[in-house]
Amino acid sequence: MKRSNPKTFYIRTYGCQMNELDTEIMVGLLEKKGLVKTDDEKLADIIIFNTCSIRDLAERKVLGKLGQLGRIKKNRPIIGVTGCMAMAKKEALFKKLPHLDFVVGTNNITDLSDAIDQVIEKEQTVLRTDNKFEENLDYLVASRDDKVKASISIIRGCDKYCTYCVVPYTRGREVSRPLENIVQEVKMLADQGYKEVTLLGQNVNSYGKDFKDKQFLFHDLLYHLDAIEGIERIRFLTSHPIDITLDLMQAIRDLPSLCEFVHFPIQAGSSRVLKKMHRIYTKEAYFEKVHLLRQTVPNVALGTDIIVGFPTETEEEFCETLDVFKQLRYECAFLFAYSERKGTPSSRWKDDIPEEVKADRLHRLMDLHNQIVGEIMTDFIGNTVEVLVDAVNEKGQLKGRSRCWKKVVFDAPSDNPHQFIGTLQQVKVTGFNHQTLKGEVLARELVGC
Ligand code: SAH
Ligand code: SF4
Ligand code: F3S
Repeated sequence: MKRSNPKTFYIRTYGCQMNELDTEIMVGLLEKKGLVKTDDEKLADIIIFNTCSIRDLAERKVLGKLGQLGRIKKNRPIIGVTGCMAMAKKEALFKKLPHLDFVVGTNNITDLSDAIDQVIEKEQTVLRTDNKFEENLDYLVASRDDKVKASISIIRGCDKYCTYCVVPYTRGREVSRPLENIVQEVKMLADQGYKEVTLLGQNVNSYGKDFKDKQFLFHDLLYHLDAIEGIERIRFLTSHPIDITLDLMQAIRDLPSLCEFVHFPIQAGSSRVLKKMHRIYTKEAYFEKVHLLRQTVPNVALGTDIIVGFPTETEEEFCETLDVFKQLRYECAFLFAYSERKGTPSSRWKDDIPEEVKADRLHRLMDLHNQIVGEIMTDFIGNTVEVLVDAVNEKGQLKGRSRCWKKVVFDAPSDNPHQFIGTLQQVKVTGFNHQTLKGEVLARELVGC
């Protein structure tokens, strides 16, 4: 049955910030086509799942949800899968989900509108999953809900090939976005009133390494972006420790807009496990870099990612990870149990750590991390932090983040709290609740906009 022209679409995002940004770009492209976004999937003529493949659970969640959509028989919506699972499974998705209409991969976002047209006109399924990203994506169409902070893509793909990770296969090789194009977007955001930008990539500090005609690296880009009027804060996510250079550390120290927070993912505390993960640094080399960063930027906060239960990880090796946490005292950590991913080098090794052992290691690490974060939060009491206000909560209080990525909540100094959204406020910390600091605004900063 030929489907009538769609008017509305629903899009749901799984996975990392890069996927969230791709969703914002897809929303922009579909709105440009005249379609209207709805938050109710039952009302949508087109349903898109922008998916993640990083761990088994991420995929199972989407497949379960997509399976349920097969039951919608009457006025059947057009159903599409985009994102990393589209790349990991490609045409196999059509076999698994017979009601699926299109599969559009991470390198084919530009083709989205065309894919939908083909589904309608030719009444056939459409598969677009190129391995290489062509730099013709219109980033500037991105449709953002947040009006204070924006994420922008500066490099796509990953060339690191950690043995456990699907990303090099789902996102392809590294392709840096041209400087002029990035500057144009950041200037546009500044003109629209945005105060903070987060530069995104699977490995942002590889930026520029693929430029053949010029020597221009990540820290060079930071100097250009810091000079743009109106942008108060610049963040970046994520970094591979091997590419965190002294030049980058000095840029964080010297550039006023660069926030003092570095996501510095170690993944495991044992050099043997790191080698098996192909992380290309030892624990000792990692520690040296962290010390150099802390010397260069003394008030820097650190974040990390960890995988516990990597194949062959022993109890002693896991204890080395606990020890890293005790020594380095991360402010923020994303902790995961190893999940075998088809097609990755580590899937050739036996997933030999029982799930209950992985779960136990994860809990022990979480408990230690929570205890350390509690101590760090206690040390904040009495200090003053700069907060970029980005929302008002249900109690009418102002919410935002400090420069070092701490959530902060405090009472609005007037009856009209919304006037403070987008302003920087100096807040004296009076306490905390879990991972959120509580405080009171300093009187001299009560200027709204
Ligand atoms: N490019 C980023 C990471 C992107 S994936 C970096 O290198 O830091 C986010 C995190 O998911 C990784 O840092 C890793 O900790 C975790 N991860 C990736 N593959 C995984 C797997 N197979 N099992 C469990 N966790 C995994
Ligand atoms: Fe995956 Fe490693 Fe690339 Fe990060 S650096 S995306 S963990 S392969
Ligand atoms: Fe997931 Fe792809 Fe991001 S696998 S974590 S959505 S790059």
